[in-house]
Amino acid sequence: MNKIEKIKESTRLLSDRLSGEPEIGMVLGSGLSESLTPILDGVEELSWSKVPHFPQPTVEGHEGKYLIGTLFEKEVLIQQGRIHWYEGLPWDDVIYPVRVQKYLGIEKLIMTNAAGGINEGFSPGDLCLLTDHINFSGDNPLRGPNNDEFGPRFPDLSYAYDQELRNIATEAANQMGIDLQHGVYAMTSGPSYETPAEIEALRTLGADLVGMSTVPEVIAANHSGMEVLAISCVTNKAAGMQDKLTHEEVLEVTEKTNEKLGKLIGEIVKRI
Ligand code: HPA
Repeated sequence: MNKIEKIKESTRLLSDRLSGEPEIGMVLGSGLSESLTPILDGVEELSWSKVPHFPQPTVEGHEGKYLIGTLFEKEVLIQQGRIHWYEGLPWDDVIYPVRVQKYLGIEKLIMTNAAGGINEGFSPGDLCLLTDHINFSGDNPLRGPNNDEFGPRFPDLSYAYDQELRNIATEAANQMGIDLQHGVYAMTSGPSYETPAEIEALRTLGADLVGMSTVPEVIAANHSGMEVLAISCVTNKAAGMQDKLTHEEVLEVTEKTNEKLGKLIGEIVKRI
């Protein structure tokens, strides 16, 4: 079975569980997977292990399941967890869930992640709207033969983070009194955190945040014509800007920020 046939088979099982064709899909990252649970109605859960051909995530805080539910009367598909490149799986696995969302008919993708703050003005617990990214992973998930059914050989990333969705998010945050930062996200491959010298280099290059995810999915989503909104939860000051970094701290801060993030996403969905 080839790649597209596998994706279509995964999509079929999921679409049987959906009542309609949701317009909005979501990917909730490290420790942030529960942010919407309190405000979702009619929730149905589906583990990735039940979906044929689905790659399985291996990281704590990444559960690998879908929630299907209604958020302010809009049916949404929420992907809890993601595959990171540092897990050692091929790029095709990392972007597999985004491909499935596309085949389900989803046109707007809201992504969240945990990130280190490089910008001196960012503090742990801040939320930051991504305006652009720097792919510092050293590779590209679209490398290899292009499949025209997904999208063009040379996709344009000039507007990788949709301006209209960003305006909606900014208005929603303003109305809610949430101080939403804006910034450029740099993706490193991980799994080690960066060195202070790497953070200095990234700052010089124009990065405000650093993390180990999101960029491959944003590239894949843009490749297939989806509109993307991405929000980082700043969980720590980047390497060299605080004493030391731990995954526990990342999870602790995301847990505390979940409620604010969930409410913001809810307000955004209401306005889409
Ligand atoms: N670096 C990379 N990834 C991260 C960080 C960081 O400082 N914080 C949360 N995810």
